[in-house]
Amino acid sequence: MSQVKSFISPLVTPICSFAAVAFVLTVTALSTVASAEGSKEMLLENIKPVGQVYVAGENAPEPEPAANADAAAAAEPKSGEEIYNSTCMACHGTGAAGAPKVGDAAAWAPRIAKGIDGLLSSAINGLNVMPPRGTCATCSDADLKAAIEYMISKSQ
Ligand code: HEC
Repeated sequence: MSQVKSFISPLVTPICSFAAVAFVLTVTALSTVASAEGSKEMLLENIKPVGQVYVAGENAPEPEPAANADAAAAAEPKSGEEIYNSTCMACHGTGAAGAPKVGDAAAWAPRIAKGIDGLLSSAINGLNVMPPRGTCATCSDADLKAAIEYMISKSQ
């Protein structure tokens, strides 16, 4: 028995210590890698700016669809049809106050003969009972022109 022991013991000690050292090295290496990854993420998270600015051309996230639609609505001028329906129709839809009625080609023919510029200046300045800008104070000249073009297109 003591013979066997004396044969094994010189081997056991170096093998054990080698295994122990290898184990310690492995654990140390693994935990270093893990904590490096973790702290890098934490660091990036901590120094992240509160808001992010996207420069045109950068990979910016798509804006919310709702915000997008609002922006488009605000940016686009109103169509001639919309302006006509919201303002001009009050008189031009019924012929009220002697307004040339939309759809009445005979009433519009002599007016169309003035040309779009003449009609536009009548609409901007008013003409007899026709109030300046057709009461649409917020309409731009281009809006009025679009509304006139819409009315003409329906009255030929
Ligand atoms: C309060 C009623 C009223 C409203 C609202 C109104 N109009 Fe008129 N419009 C008239 C009347 C009345 C005439 C006819 C004027 C005349 O010839 O004496 C007229 C004539 C016109 C003419 C013909 C002008 C010409 O030189 O012959 C144009 C163009 C016109 N309106 C555009 C518009 C547009 C565009 C709007 C809406 C933005 C509008 N009107 C809103 C009453 C109105």
